[in-house]
Amino acid sequence: MATVEEFLSREEIKQRVDELGEKITSDYDGQSLVLIGILKGAFVFLSDLARAIDSSRVDVKIEFMVARSYGDATESSGVVQITQDLTKPIDGENVIIVEDIVDTGLTAKYLLENLATRNPNSLKFCSLLEKPSKSKGIINIDYLGFSIDDKFVVGYGLDYAQRYRNLPHIGVLHLPNS
Ligand code: IMP
Ligand code: MG
Repeated sequence: MATVEEFLSREEIKQRVDELGEKITSDYDGQSLVLIGILKGAFVFLSDLARAIDSSRVDVKIEFMVARSYGDATESSGVVQITQDLTKPIDGENVIIVEDIVDTGLTAKYLLENLATRNPNSLKFCSLLEKPSKSKGIINIDYLGFSIDDKFVVGYGLDYAQRYRNLPHIGVLHLPNS
């Protein structure tokens, strides 16, 4: 049986997400903003982050994209497929892509390049987690929750084979024989 060892508690995550929300509020004060959540992994982070942005100061819209990077269960291949695209154009909009985790950074790089061609007014990238030893600065993360070591993590939206997404904290997955 796989086990999950707690790594970031609900309280630690909440504190950091609230800080990111405050930073985004002050950066976009008096403006409009489209948050694009990358499903499925970002669904929990996006819902908390969106509520941490002050709605009296920033006019927030929420959109989703579903992106899948091919590969085996714990390694991404860099080949990204958008299986569900935005339902509206983003030209002239301030956009922040909201991701769960940047591992190799190949998914993030692909999404940034793809959305940049649609002429947003501004385009930034937000990720709850980054594994810098893997991503090696391949993209600039404008809003980052936590830098972590190269461990496979689950919970708070992140999965292993579609499981553990509903864990309220983030944990390190230990598989048998690994
Ligand atoms: P990248 O293209 O290598 O940066 O991979 C990004 C995607 O791989 C993320 O959006 C996740 O869906 C998945 N991923 C990478 N590392 C982890 C992890 O530690 N736990 C769960 N999913 C991960
Ligand atoms: Mg993801």
